[in-house]
Amino acid sequence: MKALTWHGKRDVRVDDVPDPAIEHPTDAIIRVTSTGLCGSDLHLYEVLGPFLEAGDVLGHEPMGIVEAVGSEVTHIAPGDRVVIPFNISCGSCFMCDQGLQTQCETTQNRDQGTGASLFGYTKLYGQVAGGQAEFLRVPQAHYGPIKVPEGPSDDRFLYLSDVLPTAWQAVAYADVPDGGSLAVLGLGPIGEMACRIAQHQGVEHVIGIDLVPDRLQRAKEHGVTVFDLSQHDGDLADAVREVTGGRGPDSVIDAVGMEAHGSPVGKLAHTIAGLLPDMVAEKVMETAGTDRLAALHSSIDLVRRGGTISLSGVYGGMASPMPLLQAFDKQVQLRMGQANVKRWIPDILPLLTGDDDPLGVDTFATHHVPLAEAPEAYEMFQKKEDGAFKVVFKP
Ligand SMILES: NC(=O)c1ccc[n+]([C@@H]2O[C@H](COP(=O)([O-])OP(=O)(O)OC[C@H]3O[C@@H](n4cnc5c(N)ncnc54)[C@H](O)[C@@H]3O)[C@@H](O)[C@H]2O)c1
Ligand SMILES: [Zn+2]
Ligand SMILES: [Zn+2]
Repeated sequence: MKALTWHGKRDVRVDDVPDPAIEHPTDAIIRVTSTGLCGSDLHLYEVLGPFLEAGDVLGHEPMGIVEAVGSEVTHIAPGDRVVIPFNISCGSCFMCDQGLQTQCETTQNRDQGTGASLFGYTKLYGQVAGGQAEFLRVPQAHYGPIKVPEGPSDDRFLYLSDVLPTAWQAVAYADVPDGGSLAVLGLGPIGEMACRIAQHQGVEHVIGIDLVPDRLQRAKEHGVTVFDLSQHDGDLADAVREVTGGRGPDSVIDAVGMEAHGSPVGKLAHTIAGLLPDMVAEKVMETAGTDRLAALHSSIDLVRRGGTISLSGVYGGMASPMPLLQAFDKQVQLRMGQANVKRWIPDILPLLTGDDDPLGVDTFATHHVPLAEAPEAYEMFQKKEDGAFKVVFKP
């Protein structure tokens, strides 16, 4: 089959790789019909190289049609239309029972000291072949796959794999008080969807911050009060305080993560890590603090005293001012972490099955691209060219 594989920094290719097959009774194979490109893939493209191997298949936002199931998979059958959550979890351990599927004790990567395995997301998370491919082996398929109805286009349901539950959790963790305000840093797919969800839940004052003109424009069209980071030199927090009663927003969502702009030191450290042999670079990444913390620092600056920060942007690196890699990964109750996808599906699915599309998922993607053109699409998405906002591959 064809699959999008990683070969080095900013070097991804569409290669022929072996077709996946059922390996365990809890596996399923799906034929992928749509599969998203995510800001998290940009971390692999740019900085997480030391944790990847040439030929690793990327992608963690797939949906498609079930081709085959193992003997213990009973809730789906060949021919069903399914969306695959980006985290792989068992559904029945201590953590899954509490809706902490990102910490699943069946798929935790104890050798790496990290949580549940993820599709297409490095040796840190199980080195599981990802979903930007024609076919995908789905482990723990007795639990993970979300069966969705026939009828609407793939775009209606695709974001159940990541964008919707991630943004939903971001808003839940932000815990905006009644009548309160929310600022969202980063208006990529995650940040913008978080704005939409907060508005849908009745938050009246939503503020969005980014520096890409068409992203600011998109959010503005949805009634978000936007601030262009590039127009502020050190006075962003003051400007936001001015529209929030002088105190700052009650809650802040950081939907940027480690690709943040505005941190030249971090950029240099990344570049250095990129030049080192992998074994050394891996240590540098983990311990020497190659983080780009601009957005996190802004969040802390922005939020009102006693307010809440909800961190969904992905960070790595131990020697940052906070041990973020560990805190992020262990989902410490600073309200951060990967999204517990399955936990939020019952809340979200009803919003996708009516005719009104309240979150606007049908028109959310800007680009639908054949898998063969994925390498160009990665570059376009990273450079935020051609209005690239959400890219969906059609294998
Ligand atoms: N927690 C999770 O489960 C989860 C799931 C999906 C994605 N993510 C993470 O969420 C983040 C956003 O994902 P995305 O797909 O929207 O990515 P994206 O790269 O498209 O969006 C990030 C946005 O942040 C903006 N930005 C950069 N620096 C900024 C700054 N200093 N202040 C304000 N805005 C800034 C960029 O211009 C861009 O529009 C990434 O870090 C991604 O890894 C986390
Ligand atoms: Zn994603
Ligand atoms: Zn589990």
